[in-house]
Amino acid sequence: MSKMWGGRFQKGTDPLVEEFHSSLAFDRRLYRYDIRGSIAHAQMLGHTGIITPEEAETLVNGLTAVLADLDAGRVEFSPQVDEDIHSLVERLLVARVGEVGKKLHTARSRNDQVALDIRMYLKDEISSIRKLLTDLIHTLLDLAERHTETLMPGYTHLQRAQPVSLAHHLMAYVEMFYRDVARLDDCYRRTDVLPLGAGALAGTVFPIDREFTARELGFAAVSENSLDAVADRDFAVEFCAAAALIMVHLSRFCEELVLWSSAEFGFVELDDAYATGSSMMPQKKNPDMAELIRGKSGRVFGDLQALLVMLKGLPLAYNKDMQEDKEALFDAVDTVKKCLTVFVPMVRTLRFREAAMDGAARGGFTNATDLADYLVGRGVPFREAHEIVGRVVLYALEHGKHLEEISLDEYRNFSPVIGEDVYAAIRVENCLAARRVRGGPAPETVRAAIARARERLRQS
Ligand code: ARG
Repeated sequence: MSKMWGGRFQKGTDPLVEEFHSSLAFDRRLYRYDIRGSIAHAQMLGHTGIITPEEAETLVNGLTAVLADLDAGRVEFSPQVDEDIHSLVERLLVARVGEVGKKLHTARSRNDQVALDIRMYLKDEISSIRKLLTDLIHTLLDLAERHTETLMPGYTHLQRAQPVSLAHHLMAYVEMFYRDVARLDDCYRRTDVLPLGAGALAGTVFPIDREFTARELGFAAVSENSLDAVADRDFAVEFCAAAALIMVHLSRFCEELVLWSSAEFGFVELDDAYATGSSMMPQKKNPDMAELIRGKSGRVFGDLQALLVMLKGLPLAYNKDMQEDKEALFDAVDTVKKCLTVFVPMVRTLRFREAAMDGAARGGFTNATDLADYLVGRGVPFREAHEIVGRVVLYALEHGKHLEEISLDEYRNFSPVIGEDVYAAIRVENCLAARRVRGGPAPETVRAAIARARERLRQS
């Protein structure tokens, strides 16, 4: 097959090489963006008089027809025939419109073209992932709204620590996912820059109108430096970093679902639609989706790493190494989208076992800090109060009692300042309600946080 760059060569490429260096197998997914970009480029060439208006029209019509062929699946893909999606589209265009098709690539290189395609693709994907994230946040807010009074233990070191509410716990994830949205928005701004016009690396001698193309394609800005424009994949790295953090957050949540759905915790039951069974053990209901999402996080971290390593040693400007950007980026996009798509309905259909959470919140001395704080309120220095309550807990453990079950006489042996009102102070509901500090778990505070989160989302 004759090559788009064949003029300088006297001998054909080894078929092994054709297979090896072709990106068609994976960059074919960019065809819509490639053609949209080419249509805008052709219009710009016509608009600036670099080609005639008739030629531009022929190119646009030809490209539109090529798009229809590709959409309808009427095109065969072969690395022996086409090196990448850009050469494939150009070959099909020339086959349709003849010689004039060869004018499309005036004032353009595949280097600025591929940078354009990826940016267009990623802008769309960022928007759809953003939508999935905001759906997730809304789901969590709806759940939180129903559970501001649902007690559960908060943990440190996975040991029961202090009482919180299920709503407060869920709202922690709202914060994480909201930061993910903000990171995507930030990444979007830097992706939204038109590289076309950078040519192979040094721009072009033709009087192109880059602002025209940017307007046609909906880019907010045009790149400032031609070398950077073709060498830059920072936006892809930034996306993968944002995607990696989304996966970290999903994975932590999934880890909790795995724990919480165990008989040992019994805090939650997954809907049958989001769990699977065992081929051998008839009783099993396994949280496979949560485990898979947790497991898939590793792929996305790998994608980020692959991009960073691919870029770090590259001299300016374009190098073929950069063709390796696509599979990593596509994998990160696909993985995050698939995970979110399953995760959102899985969370929406969770059945929380409120009694088990409540019971756990009341066990494990989660109100011990409140007892110490009570003593502080009676003038005992906190360090001393801590020591006293430590001894009370030891005593309670030895006698198999909760703090609420220790009599006033017993308490007075530990500290004479303790009065009847201690029981109200260590009632778990009251421990929660007393934590009204901004960012704290008191039901009214969490309700206000939910309202603010909804408002923040509306404005973003
Ligand atoms: N397939 C190439 C890539 O994905 C397109 C750019 C090729 N440019 C070049 N000078 N070989 O990066």
